[in-house]
Amino acid sequence: MRQVILDMDPGIDDAAAIAVAVNHPDLNVSLITTVAGNVSVDKTTKNALKLLEFFHREDIPVAAGASKPLKKGFADAANIHGESGMPGYDFPEPTIKPIDDDAVTAMHKVLQTSSQPVTLIATGAYTNVAALFQTYPFDLVNIDEVILMGGSVSGGNVSSVAEFNIFTDPDAAKIVMEAPVKKTMIGLDVTLKALITPETMAAITQMGKAGNMLSHIITAYGDVHEGGKPMHDVNTILYAVDPSCMTVKDGAVDVVTEGPAAGATVWDFQHRWHANDFVNATIGVDVDAERFNEWFLAQVQQMN
Ligand code: BDR
Ligand code: CA
Repeated sequence: MRQVILDMDPGIDDAAAIAVAVNHPDLNVSLITTVAGNVSVDKTTKNALKLLEFFHREDIPVAAGASKPLKKGFADAANIHGESGMPGYDFPEPTIKPIDDDAVTAMHKVLQTSSQPVTLIATGAYTNVAALFQTYPFDLVNIDEVILMGGSVSGGNVSSVAEFNIFTDPDAAKIVMEAPVKKTMIGLDVTLKALITPETMAAITQMGKAGNMLSHIITAYGDVHEGGKPMHDVNTILYAVDPSCMTVKDGAVDVVTEGPAAGATVWDFQHRWHANDFVNATIGVDVDAERFNEWFLAQVQQMN
């Protein structure tokens, strides 16, 4: 079983990723940490707590993290994820609370006490992850892989070159990309190919309480494309449990932190900038969209 920490900004696709992860038999979720991104950190924290109560996983601690990016100002994505970050379904107010430790301290404690290497899955801005790496660099040896939703090497979703998670905190993304730890970047190159189809949505609606909840929040999701909706963050969970669904390549990736291209992730695939053998990331380039939909359906089915 893979031990994981989820660092997230729920957010509708983060919520779907939490739903899959906390119900997956091959994943042991030790901790959820929250960050400002799709909505404020107060709201992303509350949404994580609501989901854990919904799935009766109150045993998983939630630690609140950064309320704003390392250097730049905070701008949310409520236009896509709604004012609450998780609209469309009437969750009760959570009765559980976040733990007293902040996100960085909580991650550090898990990494120091875990009996096995931990996979860190980050699907919001990487503000908490960068702070962890800077504050506790010796914790990196206890991480077997950082799986990131973010970035793109073929075009952005907030500018022509920048993806939202990287754009929200490019300084944090640069720190993470430069850290000496295995990183896999599952960006828009993958996630925009794995759209949840209308057929999948229709099937989920019939799948009990969890399917009903997920179909309502996904219906309220404003990220609409021809052919369906991208559940960006869910792809990181799929990669953690079944990487054979994706095509990945090792490469050299840099993050642009300033100017009109701020938030861009640049893949130096012809090694014009870096040495030929320089690799700092594994880059997701393709996914089997049909398998993604089948897998997602199977996950929702076994949530009930
Ligand atoms: C990413 O941005 C957020 O809005 C989503 O939750 C996802 O993590 C997609 O660009
Ligand atoms: Ca997210």
